[in-house]
Amino acid sequence: MVRIHPSILSADFVNLERDLEKIATADGVHVDIMDAHFVPNLTFGLPMVQRIAEVTRLPLDVHLMIDDPDTWAHQYAIDGVDSVTFHAEATRDAVAIARELRARGTRSAIAVKPGTHIDRVLEHLPEFDMVLVMTVEPGFGGQAFMADMMPKLRQLRDRADELGIELALQVDGGITDDTLPIAAAAGADVFVAGSAVYGHADPAARIDALREAGML
Ligand code: DX5
Ligand code: ZN
Repeated sequence: MVRIHPSILSADFVNLERDLEKIATADGVHVDIMDAHFVPNLTFGLPMVQRIAEVTRLPLDVHLMIDDPDTWAHQYAIDGVDSVTFHAEATRDAVAIARELRARGTRSAIAVKPGTHIDRVLEHLPEFDMVLVMTVEPGFGGQAFMADMMPKLRQLRDRADELGIELALQVDGGITDDTLPIAAAAGADVFVAGSAVYGHADPAARIDALREAGML
C-alpha cells in the first residue's frame, strides 16, 4: 500500500486553508515543525497545528524537528493528529515519549537524520508505530533524494517482519515520481512530498501520479 502525505512546508502559509483543499485526495498531511535550533529553519507551533486540524479532514502527520521533544511531543497529541514524529537525535528517552504518545491515543513515530544509525531504533522497534528515514538533511524542501539511505529502510522492514509487527515506514525528502519507487522497493510505504506536490499547478494530479509511481 502506498500512502501519500504532502508536506505543507511547500504550501502558501498565508493561504493555507486553500492549499489544504488542493490536497484533499491525499492520505494525510505532513506538518513540519521547526524551531531554528534543531534545524536551521523556523515554521510554526501548536496553535497552527490546532487550526490545521480544524480545517482539514485528513489525518495530520506531525514531524517535530525541534530540540527537547521529551517536553513538547505529547502536547501535539491532539484531536486530528494521527501520528507525532520526533527525532532520535534530539531526545533523552525515546521510549518514554513513544509510550506517552500512545497513551494519549496518537501513533508514535521516530525519525533519523541521514547520519544517524538505526541500532537504537531497531532495539526498541515495537515501541514505534512508524519510523521516518530522512532522505535529505532536515530543514528545507526541494533538496535531492539520498538513495544511500535505502539500506536503513530494508533493515527496518526486515526486522519488523521478523518480529511480526505492523510498522509504517516513512521517507521524507526529495520524493518524486522517480525516487518514490526506489524507496517503495526498499520497504517504505508512507511518502512525504513537498515540492513534488505543491511545486506544480495541479497538486491533486501530482498526488495521483505519485501514487501510480508507487504501484508500478
Ligand atoms: C524537510 C522536511 C520535509 C520537506 C520535504 O526537512 O522535513 O517534509 O517538506 O520537501 P521535499 O519533498 O521538497 O523534499
Ligand atoms: Zn518533514
